[in-house]
Amino acid sequence: MSDALDVLIVGSGVAGLTAAVKFATSSEKRGLKVGVLTKGELDDSTTRFAQGGVAAVLGSEEDSVDLHLADTIKAGDGLCDIEAVSVLVKEGPKRVQELISLGAVFDREPGGNFLLAREGGHSKARVLHANGLATGAEIERALVTAVKQTVAKVYENWTALSLEVDNNKVVGVNAIDEKGVSVFIRSDIVVLATGGAGQLFSVTTNPHEATGDGIAMALRSKAYVADVEFIQFHPTALFHPKMPRPLLSEALRGHGATIKDKNGDRFVDELLPRDKVSYAMAKKMEEHDVDHLFLDATELNDFAVRFPTIYESLKSVDIDPSVDYIPIAPAAHYICGGIATDLNGATSIEGLFAAGEIACTGIHGANRLASNSLLEGMVFGARLVDAILDGVTKADSTGVLGTLAKNKYIKELNLNFTQITVDAVNSQLSNSQLSKSQLSNSQLSNPQVNPSQLSNPNAKSEEIAHLRSDMQHLMSKYMAVQRAPEGMSYALTKIKQIESKILDMKVLTEDLNAYVSLLNLITLSFAVIESAIVRQESRGCHFRVDFDKKDDVNFLGRIVHK
Ligand code: SIN
Repeated sequence: MSDALDVLIVGSGVAGLTAAVKFATSSEKRGLKVGVLTKGELDDSTTRFAQGGVAAVLGSEEDSVDLHLADTIKAGDGLCDIEAVSVLVKEGPKRVQELISLGAVFDREPGGNFLLAREGGHSKARVLHANGLATGAEIERALVTAVKQTVAKVYENWTALSLEVDNNKVVGVNAIDEKGVSVFIRSDIVVLATGGAGQLFSVTTNPHEATGDGIAMALRSKAYVADVEFIQFHPTALFHPKMPRPLLSEALRGHGATIKDKNGDRFVDELLPRDKVSYAMAKKMEEHDVDHLFLDATELNDFAVRFPTIYESLKSVDIDPSVDYIPIAPAAHYICGGIATDLNGATSIEGLFAAGEIACTGIHGANRLASNSLLEGMVFGARLVDAILDGVTKADSTGVLGTLAKNKYIKELNLNFTQITVDAVNSQLSNSQLSKSQLSNSQLSNPQVNPSQLSNPNAKSEEIAHLRSDMQHLMSKYMAVQRAPEGMSYALTKIKQIESKILDMKVLTEDLNAYVSLLNLITLSFAVIESAIVRQESRGCHFRVDFDKKDDVNFLGRIVHK
């Protein structure tokens, strides 16, 4: 089967939906056919989990875009693209206003000014939030409502498999529809906005869907991908078996909450950028041989009023922040690198654009500044639409891609990733694409079907989940806040074994999404580990126990997959 569009957006978080609304609104006039494809429902994205908010200079006289720029660059530890950061901080306030006109509501003081929070690495209070700390949910709500009012065609519960690229020009996306049927969606413009990959790790703040799908697709198509070794760990995730780990926003620390060890002593400046705080915590946990520390919010006034969602989440696990120290440990939160783009979001493949967490615009460098991610999605999700409507299809010489095109990187990796093709996936599907509901009938009529599968139709999904968990534990053990060379090599070897097992597997149609998501995680894990092995220094959120200093002479640049 096939379908044809002018613009296909894959992913439905803040970047994808910002692009979709803007495209669809303009396309009504121009007659363009726009589609949004997502592997869940429209609002199943990491965006809805974002708490703290949107960093933007709006209204405070003490603040300026230059200060926002300086804070972002400082947090990025030498690898920010200054042009990209400049675009972000200058265009950010306008994009926030556009979102407000679409219906998003941010918290305000009684006089009407925005209520602004301070977070780690910010020299001023400049973080807007909504409903206390449910900022992502409010943004997602506003954008989903807006998209549904446009003519954009929505493909929910579809699985994107691969980019179809001809002569370095994208021509569409191979996908599996919600019933398990292969469909080729022809589109001269494809926007990848599938978000991050926190699910590479067993301990993460990211939802189940965050499996790095778009970056994996780009890696397989040999688009330039950079900086993927920089995975940020949020310092203050609740230490609890719940997954994703409930986040205790930086805004708590901005309001005076402190981090304490098992003796009740402080040991780190809580308002440093995240990489520094997580690293200090990892060292303290090692020194004390413990698996968690504590956040002390007992001195915060009006916790339940100011932070209602966090209050409820703590209450559900019997923690009262006015009297209890809250157990915390760092959790995988954000991938700073991704598909390399220019300042318009264009990638190294003609017609292919990327925005949001999936992209490497160079804004975050080696470590993202708190609350710059929603802003990035809004700014670059909108910029790429303006560029495409102006007829841009190819990248120019700006931004990260501009520097990479001039060969200004420190190391090029050219790995061969396992391809996911429609044919391969169809051959993975067990006989006749049986669904679980069909099994009992086919058991009678189809002697070819593997009997063990019929007696236990859940076997495959359990096996996929099991292999995913094995991979996540390897990543959490060897690729988290501190990385050692032997551990990284060991993880690589073991994950290659997991890949062989999954490639041998036959799957049921309903397990296809989980199967492809695991293949995507595996592909991306190879890129992350190989890059981390090559970067023999410690910078931003990449810390090597064997090279514990920053090395500007040899490593002030990007590691690129191409
Ligand atoms: C937080 O509220 O701490 C998370 C915001 C972010 O990831 O920047």
